[in-house]
Amino acid sequence: MSLRRVLTGITTSGTPHLGNYVGAIRPTVRASRQPDTRNFYFLADYHALIKVGEPARVQRSTLEIAATWLACGLDPDKVTFYRQSDIPEIPELTWLLTCVTGKGLLNRAHAYKASVDKNNAAGEDPDAGVTAGLFMYPVLMAADILMFNAHQVPVGRDQIQHIEMARDIASSFNHLYGEHFTLPEVVIEDHVATLPGLDGRKMSKSYDNTIPLFATKEQLRKLIMGIVTDSRAPGEPKTTEGSALFQLFQAFASADETAELAKAYAEGIAWGDAKQLLFERLDREIAPMRVVYEEMMRDPSHIEKTLKAGAEKARSVATPFTAQLRHAVGLRPLFSAPASAQPVKAAKAAMPSFKQYRESDGQFYFKLLDAKGQLLLQSTGFASPRDAAQSMTRLQKEGPAALQALASVLASQADTAAVNAALAQLAQTPE
Ligand code: TRP
Repeated sequence: MSLRRVLTGITTSGTPHLGNYVGAIRPTVRASRQPDTRNFYFLADYHALIKVGEPARVQRSTLEIAATWLACGLDPDKVTFYRQSDIPEIPELTWLLTCVTGKGLLNRAHAYKASVDKNNAAGEDPDAGVTAGLFMYPVLMAADILMFNAHQVPVGRDQIQHIEMARDIASSFNHLYGEHFTLPEVVIEDHVATLPGLDGRKMSKSYDNTIPLFATKEQLRKLIMGIVTDSRAPGEPKTTEGSALFQLFQAFASADETAELAKAYAEGIAWGDAKQLLFERLDREIAPMRVVYEEMMRDPSHIEKTLKAGAEKARSVATPFTAQLRHAVGLRPLFSAPASAQPVKAAKAAMPSFKQYRESDGQFYFKLLDAKGQLLLQSTGFASPRDAAQSMTRLQKEGPAALQALASVLASQADTAAVNAALAQLAQTPE
């Protein structure tokens, strides 16, 4: 049985903060330890170029995010952890997908539409300041996902449309060229709380209210002391509801610890003391990871090596799959007809083959065998040998592209990739 493949990307455009940690990094690292999945996590640095025009920031963010995930316990031996730009097959697949993606589909993407709406509202040209990169964002993301035939893609709500588009794009490709891609499903982590930031609104880079996950101890203390509270004096009972301080504490503490803080609130703990408790609780979880993080940041060559090893693992999938896809769309070597009978025979010996035959039920059948004689495809029964031959010839000539049209006359089919490869091989071989 093949494992469930889970894949997600992190755009390398910022510095990880507590909200990223609680909302994405911590649950993902935990989930990555499940034995029944194969996990792909990558640094989406091609995506970063769409938003960030500062080379140093892209590089810095890539380093910080890689170091963060590793320091938080992601085990690169258990998962495939890589950098998008180390996989040249990704932009190659992006082009193959671009050619089956409706422009109208991309016109409807939320991020692109938001830019156009803003321009229209300002009386500007609708596409003012909109790069083709922003417009093509969903196709690049589809390539990320489809390259590894991910079953599940855990993302935030804002990314749901992108997964739906990846499904649409995959269907278009499959329809035209045969069943190459798995249709991915979105997974929304709804149970993880969104964390409040320093000002009480959702912690987000765009509100400038974040607490960096790996701020130094001193910075962390200072930032926590600056969290907004109400004006209740020491000794006055305080409400936990709507208290950013309390929610932050809860995201890190056990149920017992949280109940204890709630009790302290009711008994009128001073805000300064509550902040000190929060600082200590956070630092207890973060400090051991911070040591690892700082060590890795001092020697990025270790991370570089880890990412290169991850890229190798990823490419062991991406390279042969891309070869299959290139073939499927018609980017093929131009074999000339063999000059003598000798090589033809040799080639034939290692070829898949079609067989037509008659069963005891009086009907006519055909089947496809691989080079070793294993059954790949088996037709249903035909009343006449001509009908059987017609379907068989179509498969021979058109290859995987004919599979869908002939689905109703096929009784059984082995592994799709093996069938596609055999059909492709036959379709490209001169008779
Ligand atoms: N667009 C995603 C984000 O901003 C990042 C991303 C890029 C991604 N490629 C992906 C997520 C593929 C999941 C799968 O969050």
